[in-house]
Amino acid sequence: MHQDQDILDNISTGIIALDAQLCVVALNAAGQALLEISETRYVGCHARQLLLQPDNLLHGLQQVAREKSPLSQRGISLMLLGGQEIHVDMMVTPVSESQCDIALLVEIQPVDRLLKISREEGLIHSQETTRAVIRGLAHEIKNPLGGVRGAAQLLARALPDESLTEYTQVIIREADRLRDLVDRLLGPNQKLNLQQRNIHEVLEHVCNLITAESNNQVTIVRDYDPSLPEFPADRAQMVQAVLNIVRNALQAAESPRQCQITLRTRAQRQLTVGAVRHRLGCRVDIIDNGPGVPDDLLHAVFAPMVTGRADGTGLGLSIAQSIINRHGGLLECESSPGLTRFTIQLPMECKNAQTD
Ligand SMILES: Nc1ncnc2c1ncn2[C@@H]1O[C@H](COP(=O)(O)OP(=O)(O)O)[C@@H](O)[C@H]1O
Ligand SMILES: [Mg+2]
Repeated sequence: MHQDQDILDNISTGIIALDAQLCVVALNAAGQALLEISETRYVGCHARQLLLQPDNLLHGLQQVAREKSPLSQRGISLMLLGGQEIHVDMMVTPVSESQCDIALLVEIQPVDRLLKISREEGLIHSQETTRAVIRGLAHEIKNPLGGVRGAAQLLARALPDESLTEYTQVIIREADRLRDLVDRLLGPNQKLNLQQRNIHEVLEHVCNLITAESNNQVTIVRDYDPSLPEFPADRAQMVQAVLNIVRNALQAAESPRQCQITLRTRAQRQLTVGAVRHRLGCRVDIIDNGPGVPDDLLHAVFAPMVTGRADGTGLGLSIAQSIINRHGGLLECESSPGLTRFTIQLPMECKNAQTD
């Protein structure tokens, strides 16, 4: 038991073990620090005594105790006894056949609301706003551009001197370049071709592409949950989204040889996207060991045309995000030097995926 306590205290996630009456059996060091309470004083106390406003917590605990299935809640706010409010991700797991009266395990992880691109509805709205602005702008640019191009073609035919067509060709070529840029800004607009797909098949395809691109030098670590079921997805677009993320990791690395990319898949119960709750989701973490997203880009890394590379377009992540969103999912990023993690979360029933 002593050794167990040692292990518990070295975990950075706050852990509270509760008995069937929701009284505290154990509380690890991270949990004590997070809730600003001491284990010695609170062992045996009811969970409601841990917080100033325990309703959020109690509600989750009672639900898990009743339904005997795990619950994960993201970004919930807890009011500490001292009156301070913290934001956490919380996972409650029922424990069956415990030898020491533990009925529920609560894992609590603080959410750094500034660094982490959050899943708040506000964020989803602001992404929609950005996309609407781009659509409007694209429309305004493409129409006159078509006119300019057509006029240059007419002019080319009417020019008395053949050598002058060099100039009309410049106009046509640059108009085409602008049109392509605008199209890429708009992102993929084909209908999603949804078919039952295995996420690992998509990831393996991306691995093959990126291995070839790096001359077989990049190290890819696979940490898959093979039990993940198939779900409706557009394979080509999903490959595009993951490839854009993985390719960034390769490009950010000092050299391909030093680049290690971990692909991790997990099932996720209770995935909330905006106001929609899904019973089952899948989570894909794409982790690299490179220098990290530059600080000044992190807050806007998904916005189109935001780039940290001299030859970048800043469209890769914006396109990836729009593909994931159209599948009803979320794409988030956390980054510090040596550890950058892009997290894709996808609902596996896909009820809310847009198909147009
Ligand atoms: N894994 C990563 N590590 C470090 N920086 C990254 C990573 N992924 C993205 N970035 C940063 O985000 C920027 C935007 O990426 P992206 O939208 O794909 O556009 P582009 O690759 O054309 O610059 C990149 O230029 C880079 O600065
Ligand atoms: Mg890119």
